[in-house]
Amino acid sequence: MSHEKPNYDHCPALRTIAMPADANANGDIFGGWLLAQMDLAGSIIATQTAKTRVATVGIEAMAFKLPVFIGDEVSFYCKTIRIGNTSTTIHIESWARGRLDDTARKVTEGNFTYVAIDENRHPVPIVRPKVPA
Ligand SMILES: CC(C)(COP(=O)(O)OP(=O)(O)OC[C@H]1O[C@@H](n2cnc3c(N)ncnc32)[C@H](O)[C@@H]1OP(=O)(O)O)[C@@H](O)C(=O)NCCC(=O)NCCS
Repeated sequence: MSHEKPNYDHCPALRTIAMPADANANGDIFGGWLLAQMDLAGSIIATQTAKTRVATVGIEAMAFKLPVFIGDEVSFYCKTIRIGNTSTTIHIESWARGRLDDTARKVTEGNFTYVAIDENRHPVPIVRPKVPA
């Protein structure tokens, strides 16, 4: 198990607490809840990049590595790994920590791709910042 927590701009894009309503019949947290939180976290970064609304178009290399428990604090770290014409791909890692624990554990990771869209939901080019010569 890795304890090398990513240092993507030092703070997670999103941090929350897993609640009883997010648990499955075994008392562990639903994978779907984690996916939704990852999607939210990635959309924050993708929207900052696209400077317009975005839609999730694909998820790759998704892995659920360890269970998450009720009461865990879960942090979602995002790193932009690709900016295309209309889409951007964000690598997202989820780290969970028992509320009284000192160390966090990596529980999921995946690559989420978002497409920049206009008000009619059509893809629009992402305008990249000009790099000084
Ligand atoms: C997002 C959407 C408008 C894109 O339309 P589209 O006709 O597929 O657009 P394109 O084929 O031109 O692809 C747009 C970009 O997405 C990328 N893309 C398309 N499908 C992809 C996939 N499955 N995985 C990764 N990237 C994908 C393309 O490579 C392209 O990237 P680029 O412009 O950076 O090269 C359309 O697919 C859609 O509305 N999907 C539903 C989105 C949704 O409801 N998401 C859940 C809620 S947010």
